[in-house]
Amino acid sequence: MEKMPYRDNGQVLVDMQSALSAQAVATTTDWRHTLPVMTGSMVTLRELRLSDAASLLAMLSTEEVSRFISPPPTTVEGFERFIAWTHRERAAGNYACFAVVPHAMDTAIGIFQLRQLEPGFATAEWGFAIGSAFWGTGVFLDGAKLVVDFAFDMVGAHRLEARAAVANGRGNGALQKVGAVQEGVLRKSFLRNGEYLDQTLWTILDDDWRRSKSVWGGLIH
Ligand SMILES: CC(C)(COP(=O)(O)OP(=O)(O)OC[C@H]1O[C@@H](n2cnc3c(N)ncnc32)[C@H](O)[C@@H]1OP(=O)(O)O)[C@@H](O)C(=O)NCCC(=O)NCCS
Repeated sequence: MEKMPYRDNGQVLVDMQSALSAQAVATTTDWRHTLPVMTGSMVTLRELRLSDAASLLAMLSTEEVSRFISPPPTTVEGFERFIAWTHRERAAGNYACFAVVPHAMDTAIGIFQLRQLEPGFATAEWGFAIGSAFWGTGVFLDGAKLVVDFAFDMVGAHRLEARAAVANGRGNGALQKVGAVQEGVLRKSFLRNGEYLDQTLWTILDDDWRRSKSVWGGLIH
């Protein structure tokens, strides 16, 4: 999550990787047109709408949620610009961002993001943030299963990376719970509040994910 380009002014950092990504050929084209609506036992994941901006501001801009991630927008308009940017990046095939909507609600209470780390999306990175009122409820795990399936089955990724600040207990606990493997520590790799933080690198491989699902219903429980 930490490295997701999350800008209040709606602009994003364009680095060499992004420039290369823009030329990439996606494995599938459908999701570039519009993201699928995916339903779990507790939540639905769908494309972000401009009308999600106010609820996302309320859910994601608190200190406890934003402490270990790139600073979220600070206004409704900032979130609207972010949402418009997610649609452009999805259409370009570089990135996907899902709204997390609990059943019986129409409000986005969090997001899952997925971006390519190389042209063609073979290696992808995911990140997530959920309003703290929904922490520990099972919403994260329910949505995470859908996003990992989406990354491997629809986008065609084979390796899914996530970075979590070492000090982010819930972020690391969530990744461990979903079955990610800790590959190492990226020292002083994330600048937050003027301080470089170490991050844990977590990965899931498509073969491992599919094998575990076929044997006993998933790595996650
Ligand atoms: C990351 C996030 C989406 C996870 O959702 P969540 O509902 O809190 O996750 P869960 O409660 O299902 O899982 C977290 C696990 O970490 C454990 N955990 C909590 N604090 C912990 C700590 N200090 N150290 C280790 N594990 C911890 C929890 O006990 C839980 O495991 P359990 O269900 O086996 O008990 C949510 O906490 C969030 O939005 N955080 C803010 C944004 C963020 O940090 N994003 C992640 C960037 S990588």
